[in-house]
Amino acid sequence: MNNFEFRNPTKLVFGKDQIAQLSTLIPAGAKVLMTYGGGSIKKNGIYDEVMAALKDFEVTEFSGIEANPQFSTLMKAVELIREQSLDFILAVGGGSVIDGTKFISAAVHYQGDTWDILSKNLGKQLEEAVPFGTVLTLPATGSEMNSGAVISRAETQEKRAFGGPLFFPQFSVLEPKVIQSLPKRQLANGIADAFTHVMEQYLTYPAGALLQDRFAEGIIQTLVEVAPKVMEDPKDEEAASNYMWSATMALNGLIQQGVPTDWATHMIGHELTALHGIDHARTLAIIGPNLYQELFELKKDKLVQYGERVWGITEGTAEERAQQAIDQTTAFYQSLGIDTKLSDYTQEYASTKATILERFQERGWSKLGDRGSVTPAVVANIIDRSI
Ligand code: NZQ
Ligand code: ZN
Repeated sequence: MNNFEFRNPTKLVFGKDQIAQLSTLIPAGAKVLMTYGGGSIKKNGIYDEVMAALKDFEVTEFSGIEANPQFSTLMKAVELIREQSLDFILAVGGGSVIDGTKFISAAVHYQGDTWDILSKNLGKQLEEAVPFGTVLTLPATGSEMNSGAVISRAETQEKRAFGGPLFFPQFSVLEPKVIQSLPKRQLANGIADAFTHVMEQYLTYPAGALLQDRFAEGIIQTLVEVAPKVMEDPKDEEAASNYMWSATMALNGLIQQGVPTDWATHMIGHELTALHGIDHARTLAIIGPNLYQELFELKKDKLVQYGERVWGITEGTAEERAQQAIDQTTAFYQSLGIDTKLSDYTQEYASTKATILERFQERGWSKLGDRGSVTPAVVANIIDRSI
């Protein structure tokens, strides 16, 4: 196991009827900017519950944060905070609203070109941020308990990440009933994203981290167990609670401590969203299994362990078992109704591949993955396999 330091300061408030707690979670006297998305919270009653809890606060609303939050939209919120001297942000939404809020929080006090926070990855160097909390409405990204964010820029078809210790939410309210209004497409996305987050931190190579491996396997097993129940009946409270808690645990920093992590699936996947607007989770279902296939020898030991412990694969040679584990992964995504081939979404393979390779080269990303083995040639092979 590698050395590590771990701190996660986000306070979680989990369970039934917890949105009312916002009245005490937000600092008394705060001038609040409430951020949200395209309006789902107005249809499912979450907006009314939040507003009731905020009745003693001065609240300014900022709506319209898109899925894959847009830099230009977020900069309007930054201006609003600057003009009105607001001092707390409450994000009510999924990963996009929460990520967007992290960027707003970072940009308000930044003096230069705020795109630099993303393109130059300045998150860790920033010294001031507007404090914020969240009410999660879509379990998927873990953004409610981590310090990262991913922001898009339509003009240039870019999608860039940033993060740093100032960008943990002060608190997050996790109320499982919010999933009841999620369309099946978003439920499937949420489960697939959380599943892949665990894989990025687990499906690497053995590092003698027995507990982290079992945490990771436990999260994946729980997701596999509850997925059909959640998809069938999002009102199933037990399934909803376990899904929500698993998605948070999948990317709140815990399972990555002391172990190698990969993240190349996400790096390639983000480009597919930037270029073709494919839902984030679906890009992972396209790329992940093909990355494991391309790096078969390097990941074989972990594939065998994953196959045995998660899918009960015990028959055959190590190669056969590792192969079955990859096939089961694809079958799991498909069981959620997710198409797993790039050609299911776009026919522009050659230009897509060329653009991704060019961008990775410009950014100096020539050695991605847990061992730096995802070179440009490997990225090209993974995309070819994904078609
Ligand atoms: O905008 P509204 O009207 O609220 O509708 C949203 C949106 O259209 C809807 N929705 C959310 N909660 C709902 C609901 N509809 C009905 N009932 C509810 N309770 O769902 C749609 C998708 O929402 P979005 O926030 O975009 O989804 P998700 O949570 O999957 O977030 C995806 C974004 O997070 C980034 C992704 O790249 C993408 O931009 N990620 C962030 C990460 C992080 N911060 O750690 C890690 C991830 O790997 C990921 O990259
Ligand atoms: Zn993800």
